[in-house]
Amino acid sequence: MNTAKSIKGFSKLSKEEKIDWVARTFLSESVDGTAIMKKYWLDDDSEQKIFDDFSENTLSNFHLPFGVAPNFLIDGKYYTIPMVIEESSVVAAASSAAKYWAQRGGIHTEIVATNKIGQVHFRWEGESTVLSDNFAAARQQLIADTQEITHNMSRRGGGILEIDLIDLTDQVDNLYQIKATFETCDSMGANFINTCLEQFAESLQTYYSTHHADSGRLSIIMSILSNYTDQCRVRAWVECPVADLEIAGDTLDHREAAAKFKTAVDIARIDPYRAVTHNKGIFNGIDAVVLATGNDFRAIEACGHAYASRSGQYRSLSKCEIGDDIFRFELDLPLAIGTVGGLTKLHPLANLSLDLLGRPSARELMSIIAATGLAQNFAAIRSLTTTGIQKGHMKMHLQNILNQLNASAEENRHVCNQISDQHVSYSKVRQIIEHYREMA
Ligand code: MEV
Repeated sequence: MNTAKSIKGFSKLSKEEKIDWVARTFLSESVDGTAIMKKYWLDDDSEQKIFDDFSENTLSNFHLPFGVAPNFLIDGKYYTIPMVIEESSVVAAASSAAKYWAQRGGIHTEIVATNKIGQVHFRWEGESTVLSDNFAAARQQLIADTQEITHNMSRRGGGILEIDLIDLTDQVDNLYQIKATFETCDSMGANFINTCLEQFAESLQTYYSTHHADSGRLSIIMSILSNYTDQCRVRAWVECPVADLEIAGDTLDHREAAAKFKTAVDIARIDPYRAVTHNKGIFNGIDAVVLATGNDFRAIEACGHAYASRSGQYRSLSKCEIGDDIFRFELDLPLAIGTVGGLTKLHPLANLSLDLLGRPSARELMSIIAATGLAQNFAAIRSLTTTGIQKGHMKMHLQNILNQLNASAEENRHVCNQISDQHVSYSKVRQIIEHYREMA
């Protein structure tokens, strides 16, 4: 095996040495990888160090646009929402939907619940009744042993809510689970929950080996929170009389437009191929705010998609109802986020995002994020059922195409004038530029 491209002790090298090895080993001489990576370092070394320390083997910073979508009226309060996203039309679509619904009473939200789950899996080789009959006493011990960890969280109104023993032996021999429920207030709570769980594991092991060693043997498999936070959920909805729903210009009357919109949402409830794209549109908005506020988008995504599959089939996270001439569009999803801890203060732009939002509580941020997802979904379905998505999308993408073709400011102006209301495509833009260059 060729080991020339592998290395021992990489993490021990300095940042410069790491860059040098990566550039020498993997990049051709025509690519000045070292210069590119260093170009995106921050000028201030101490600020750069903050970013370097977020992760291991950091070489550079990877930029994404940080934008805002103004005019979000959520539960009677106006917000300008920070969004981190690279897709051209997402912020424009969110802003447009926000403005549209601000004129119709805004977006309404409700926090359904804020509990989170953690699990300790373990084996008990012995009589099941010994385990279960003594679990109440073991539970007391677990609570006592975690008091130091839970002290601050309890003062803030959170902590451990429940600890249950679950018997999984009908599926795997000798397998049991401790299922614990937590309230973590304004923090996402991953570190808090995992620390409690690891203490539970240790205390459980000690309790049964001290008091019931003669009746069985307990061995811990693992302790970790669950990112399936179906008990930490928010609902966001918009509603208005069908007569006020102007989404199709003069092409369809309001009732027909509302019915067409509803059918598009219903399709995503019955067809997984459509549901994934539909929900992807929702996550365009959700991930952008989750990222901007320094939250964990992988956890939010994994959980959202699992929740979308809770019936046994992957379905849309939103639904649309039309009754008594009222149009109602609703999003219901789990969102475990935090407004303290993690990166929320450490990342300067995440911290700024939270300032921009008025330093919301975790509950308020759940509402803001769900409202953004709903607005994004509304904008997508409105485009899909009226003009089609490409018109708006390609218009926003035009600047990327011009940058790719190295268009000068003059060429840029010329293309924008020429293309005005026509459909934008890469080949059309290239053709216009080539023609312009030939004529120059
Ligand atoms: C594109 O990023 C998102 C959409 O495909 C969502 C949808 O189809 O609903 C437009």
